[in-house]
Amino acid sequence: MPSLSSAIVAPARHVRGRLRVPGDKSISHRYALIAACAEGTSRFLNYAPGADCRSTLECLRGMGVGVESGTDQAVTLLSRGFRGWQASDAPLDAGNSGTTMRMMAGLLAAQPFVTRMTGDESLSARPMRRVIEPLMRMGATIDSVQGHAPLTIHGGRLRPIRHVPEVPSAQIKSAVLLAGLHTEGTTSVDEPAETRDHTERALAAFGVAVQKAGNLVSIEGGQRVQPQSVTVPGDFSSAAFWMVAAAALPGSRVEIEDVGLNPTRTALIDVLRRFGAHVEVHPAEVAAGEPRGTIVVEHRETGRVVIEPGEVPGLIDELPAIAALAAHGGEVTVQGASELRVKESDRIAALVAGFRGLGIDADERPDGFVIHGTGAPAGGTANARSDHRMAMSFAIAALAAKSPSRIEGSDAVVISYPGFFETLDRLVA
Ligand code: S3P
Repeated sequence: MPSLSSAIVAPARHVRGRLRVPGDKSISHRYALIAACAEGTSRFLNYAPGADCRSTLECLRGMGVGVESGTDQAVTLLSRGFRGWQASDAPLDAGNSGTTMRMMAGLLAAQPFVTRMTGDESLSARPMRRVIEPLMRMGATIDSVQGHAPLTIHGGRLRPIRHVPEVPSAQIKSAVLLAGLHTEGTTSVDEPAETRDHTERALAAFGVAVQKAGNLVSIEGGQRVQPQSVTVPGDFSSAAFWMVAAAALPGSRVEIEDVGLNPTRTALIDVLRRFGAHVEVHPAEVAAGEPRGTIVVEHRETGRVVIEPGEVPGLIDELPAIAALAAHGGEVTVQGASELRVKESDRIAALVAGFRGLGIDADERPDGFVIHGTGAPAGGTANARSDHRMAMSFAIAALAAKSPSRIEGSDAVVISYPGFFETLDRLVA
């Protein structure tokens, strides 16, 4: 349902301060799903507080997995193991979360029962053939509405495959690997480009061996998953919005503590340096295979950046934030990013419309966009189209404007970053 909420964002001179961001969304999904395959109790601290990762927990509850979550982002998962999951008469609701639906589909394909998965309007419009096709090749039957949710997954005994996806996608890679874990033999995914490798690192942390050779990842079926207790690092993709704000607004400096530094996620750091910002990275520790530390970003110069097609997989969730770099007079060109059209919204169309609404010059291309800032824009109204990253991108861009702006549908931030606007209030001056 379209949201009626809106936020007013006032112009700001700069952003300054030290902060932490919520737990990583991608990692939290994986810890919950993999722990549900282990027999025993797993505990997570700093589990992502957003609605997406709650959807994953709800789907697991639907399978009879015990889930206790406190108010402090501590989650305890009690599972009887993968073979202890129970069929559900009620559909599992993945809400707005593509990661939940696609990765869960991989696991449900290997269960000896039928499960129906639904999602909200946005998720029901997103492409699912990319996960249906490999899982059906493995032996599952999946009914869909012309390649879209709702999905009805008739799981069963699967056979291993070697999958060569058409588009690089960590969700698809993960779905196939998780299905492969529950088959006999070796399942592998040969990706056209490297994508985030949290599943590989998480599986290793839960005692499962995964082989990697370049972009080819393989898993031997039938391995035992061990329960695990881990603390989730801060979400780099949430930190990205503050990093961009600090890079774009003269006089800014932010210091973000305990943020994930997995190298498959941090390509934004190089982009900010190319733009002219000063960025420091202070690694602190590695836990469960995931490095984390502190990032400092300071404004130095306002430049222009061009994002080439080959960079897109490493920046896919940061591109909305990167667009906001242009708001204070910079220029951002993004090419080869047509995947943005099948995210929580058509992010190319939504970004261009939203930036224009704020008085910023923006051009739409079939596979990207050009945002051309010219000093402080007038400000205005931008519609987030129920997409969390649109709401946050527009809010950061609006800081550079001459007058207050309205971000329609601002409550979409609950998907990945509840408390985003409160933190914004604290950092601006
Ligand atoms: C994700 C993978 C990416 C990303 C999404 C999270 C993940 O999607 O955009 O926000 O956690 O695996 P794709 O797999 O569709 O590229």
